[in-house]
Amino acid sequence: MKIKNSENSLVTSEWVEYIRNINTEYALSTGRTKKFKLDVFGCQMNERDSETIAGMLTDMGYEEVFGDDYADIIVFVTCCVRENAEEKIYGHIGALSKECEEKGTIIVACGCMMQQPHVVEKIKNSYRHVKIVFGTHNVHTFPELLYRYITQKKRVFEVWEKEDRIIEDLPVKRTEKHKAWISIILGCNNFCTYCIVPHVRGRERSRKMEDILAEIRELAQDGCKEITLLGQNVNSYGNDLGEKDLFAKLLYAIEEIDGIKRVRFTTSHPKDLSDSLIDAMKNCKKVCNHLHLPFQAGSNRILKLMNRKYTKEHYLALVEKIKAAIPDIALSTDIIVGFPGETEEDFEETLDVVRKVQFDSAFMFIYSPRKGTPAAKLEQTTPSEVIGQRFKRLADLQTEIATSLAKRFEGKTVEVLVDGPSKQNPEMMSGRTRDNRLVNFKAEGVEKGAFVDVEIIRAGAFWLEGRGGKKRG
Ligand code: 5AD
Ligand code: SF4
Repeated sequence: MKIKNSENSLVTSEWVEYIRNINTEYALSTGRTKKFKLDVFGCQMNERDSETIAGMLTDMGYEEVFGDDYADIIVFVTCCVRENAEEKIYGHIGALSKECEEKGTIIVACGCMMQQPHVVEKIKNSYRHVKIVFGTHNVHTFPELLYRYITQKKRVFEVWEKEDRIIEDLPVKRTEKHKAWISIILGCNNFCTYCIVPHVRGRERSRKMEDILAEIRELAQDGCKEITLLGQNVNSYGNDLGEKDLFAKLLYAIEEIDGIKRVRFTTSHPKDLSDSLIDAMKNCKKVCNHLHLPFQAGSNRILKLMNRKYTKEHYLALVEKIKAAIPDIALSTDIIVGFPGETEEDFEETLDVVRKVQFDSAFMFIYSPRKGTPAAKLEQTTPSEVIGQRFKRLADLQTEIATSLAKRFEGKTVEVLVDGPSKQNPEMMSGRTRDNRLVNFKAEGVEKGAFVDVEIIRAGAFWLEGRGGKKRG
């Protein structure tokens, strides 16, 4: 694979300008603006990368379209964390082959899947309508690659193995105005044995605190009210800059930014969650009372095989400490069922953690072997029917717990930041509480981005139903 020396290449903005000139000429001669569409899979990191890709395309003179509208360029931002994500993406890409041949649509594939050489080979050989491929480390080269394709009409594959720099100041087209995602640390150093992420997103690299704060200040001036700080492990923010506890310091610094009302962050690794961070969460009024703290498995034997570097007892003690410091904290988690060789006893330990912690919500996954990870070499001795039954037992238990925890909100009034019409019921509006609960509610004249007080009339495991969104202040 190709590692390019950045000194030799033009900066992104110059390639953007070349293409913008081509598109301006096209628009003048045809009266039509070229269109692009994004198909995004996976985590919030990918959502954030997509905003950069959308920003570059917009600056290049393309206009974003959605749904079934025709697009001249379709960009797939891919995820490889589990096999079913990959299968779905191959399905979406494959379905476009005839249409592309007929209409000349440029298909672009990027993101985590493309960092795997066997995937790139497969795309090269079996998905010939994909014209441009790049990886997670060279998103900023997209305009150059697009220029090469447009001018030479030859497929362009360029995936960098690594990129030590953090490229600041790339264009960005934010999905929302009232809330924004901010990457603070890229990559992951943890190497959990089941996880492909460190292999496709590289080692940890923290952005400079002044760059992050400048970005947030600009967003606040633009009307943004809620920010979510992103990283595979935000707790190690700053370690690579040689600074201790920089994440807590970052939270205190954001607290001073006028206009920002809510601060969230994800994801936290239990082994790195420090006392100073718990103090910062407690002391910073803007930091929301919600913590996503994946525990993955309850059995110490499995945790060791996963290379998680903590025990069940450590995790439970940590949760107690957080609950003591922040009594109204809402906790969410990630859990994997069916890690190779998971026994009934191991699984019971997972159920035990779920019962003891009482998570407000949980993302539950069936283990999926990922090529190139150490766990993929372990023999799976647990039959898939047994894993399926365990998954259902876990999901049922979690639903029961989440329902009973949510009941306390019935009859209460909560603060909601409005996101727009509800996905579950388009006649309702929808938004989130400070502790990250989804609220659907009936109200007149309530706009996206407003803070409203909503009275909860019904509470379920996955969302609360409310009425009378009254504007605050
Ligand atoms: N199989 C199943 N789930 C996985 N996750 C990561 N890798 C795998 C895998 N190979 C889950 C973990 C992680 C979340 C983002 O995805 O629970 O926290
Ligand atoms: Fe994957 Fe573990 Fe890193 Fe999370 S902390 S991205 S699960 S390796």
